Amino acid sequence: MTDAPQVLRRVTYVSRALTTSRDDLDAILATARRNNAAMRVTGAMMLSNKHFAQVLEGPPAAVEEIFERIQMDERHTAVAVLEVAEVTARAFDAWTMGFVDDPDGFEAAPADPEAAPRLVMRLREALMHSAAAEGVR
Ligand SMILES: Cc1cc2nc3c(=O)[nH]c(=O)nc-3n(C[C@H](O)[C@H](O)[C@H](O)COP(=O)(O)O)c2cc1C
Repeated sequence: MTDAPQVLRRVTYVSRALTTSRDDLDAILATARRNNAAMRVTGAMMLSNKHFAQVLEGPPAAVEEIFERIQMDERHTAVAVLEVAEVTARAFDAWTMGFVDDPDGFEAAPADPEAAPRLVMRLREALMHSAAAEGVR
């Protein structure tokens, strides 16, 4: 996805999954990919030990609107923001919502300032190299 020069917002959070069924995950991902593409939002999400970790990036207003909806979603709870950052480039420009199922994916305490950048790196690594990753271009 190419952007006119502008500030992009990146929101990273973790939450506790209230469902991990494949059907529910497929429904979440299908909605996410449709909406995100329409709003020029990209990102990636990991399921790990019944927790979600997600990175959303794009125009600030679009990211905020989507994240508001996500926070109200009853398929997860205990949403804890790891980081809200202004970035100049997308980390997931090839993914409207990449998905990685990784039981060893993250162990970060939300208070750890390195948690968000570590998660971004781990998701990118997994999406580019792992057979367990799902990417949508
Ligand atoms: C863990 C998780 C991640 C989600 N990620 C996104 C997302 O990236 N984009 C999105 O539009 N909706 C996402 N959703 C779904 C939203 O909470 C909400 O159901 C959806 O945006 C409603 O869109 P609709 O009105 O088009 O059905 C996510 C939900 C969960 C539980």
